[in-house]
Amino acid sequence: MTILMTFSKGAGCQTFRLACRPALASGKSFSMAMLVLLLCGCGPAQQPTSSTSTQPAATATSSAPSAATADPQQVKQMNNAALSVQSKVFGQLPDGREVSLVTLKNSHGVELDVTNYGGIITRLITPDAKGQPGDIVLGYDNLQQYLDNNPYFGAIIGRFGNRIAKGQFAIDGKSYQLANNDGDNHLHGGVQGFDKKLWQMQPFQHADSVGVELSYLSVDGEEGYPGNLQVKVIYTLTNTNELQMQFQATTDQTTPVNLTQHSYFNLAGSGSILEHQLEIPAAQITPVGAGLIPTGELQAVEGTAFDFRSAKAIGRDIAAEDAQLKLGLGYDHNFVLKATVDDSLVLAGRVLEPKSGRVLEVWTEEPAVQFYSGNFLDGSLTGKGVQYAHRSGFCLEPQHYPDAPNQSTFPSTLLKPGETYSTQIVYRFSTKS
Ligand code: BGC
Repeated sequence: MTILMTFSKGAGCQTFRLACRPALASGKSFSMAMLVLLLCGCGPAQQPTSSTSTQPAATATSSAPSAATADPQQVKQMNNAALSVQSKVFGQLPDGREVSLVTLKNSHGVELDVTNYGGIITRLITPDAKGQPGDIVLGYDNLQQYLDNNPYFGAIIGRFGNRIAKGQFAIDGKSYQLANNDGDNHLHGGVQGFDKKLWQMQPFQHADSVGVELSYLSVDGEEGYPGNLQVKVIYTLTNTNELQMQFQATTDQTTPVNLTQHSYFNLAGSGSILEHQLEIPAAQITPVGAGLIPTGELQAVEGTAFDFRSAKAIGRDIAAEDAQLKLGLGYDHNFVLKATVDDSLVLAGRVLEPKSGRVLEVWTEEPAVQFYSGNFLDGSLTGKGVQYAHRSGFCLEPQHYPDAPNQSTFPSTLLKPGETYSTQIVYRFSTKS
């Protein structure tokens, strides 16, 4: 059962949906005591799933709230035991539009901040093996820093994650020219990609999870792409220590779509990521040429620095004599996770930071994952009191293969009118002592 609750204060009001177990809410007389019970917690907190279990819990989609703009005028809070959602003003865009920041907390010490500017995750706290909380994502302290210079820290990436050669492709014989922002190529949706858009954001709270639903209409011709694309991204923080991210889109003209999430992680909080132990269950990569554009081939990882099928330190082979590592200035490559495209959830990467004992798993429905070892970080950016030095953050970005619109042998990224683009990424947090 879903109960719609509206909290009003002054001129502003904000709506949350609170989904509770039917057993609690199905009584004939819906007494005040029950209402209090509902507000204080809808069921027992679940224990986090173990880091060795096979798949993340399924995402609850049926009770997601409908999109509406949250009123960021006032800080509002709704507590469900330790699960909570809080919203506040993050700042203003140069054109005066107000930007919000929502804090999501679960009952096990996982919490994150999400802004509707770019759908950026600005802060992500998880406990280490001793229970000490720490922020495991790179980011900034305020909106202005994100506006000034953000190398995609924490952002939603679209319409097309990764590169499209020369920003060109053709659909049904018609050629399109996109905005180029990476030398001669198009990267991460162009000059004003989804990471720089103001999304509508609606917080929600369920019995065992909290989250936000973000929506954005990318209009026909934006950054050169065809068709009006309606996009929805739902971030759900569960009490099983997962951040589940669902991506959906529909279009009125055929267009390439390749959405992803671009958090930079450092499971120690700061310092080099080269000692992090990484496992990627991929037997092949899509090797690149100049400008990090795929050659169109698949290359076996066997016997190369790209073999992460057994966990190894990110830094172990990063300086190896390898043509691909030279082109990427380190790891900046697409690892193939699935031979065929389907909606099964597979492991894209498992990372252990030995000192803190923090473990991050990334699961996805996508056929590949871009592993980027923070090669372009050079110490010139500082956020949250940390100077972001070379290789002080890494990204695991589930996605379709780069430059797919120009590579006939790669799985298609075209979305047609009448179809629904749907994919999922899950971050699962645990520890190992
Ligand atoms: C790309 C890198 C790029 C980084 C930040 C990654 O997804 O693969 O080449 O530098 O994003 O833009």
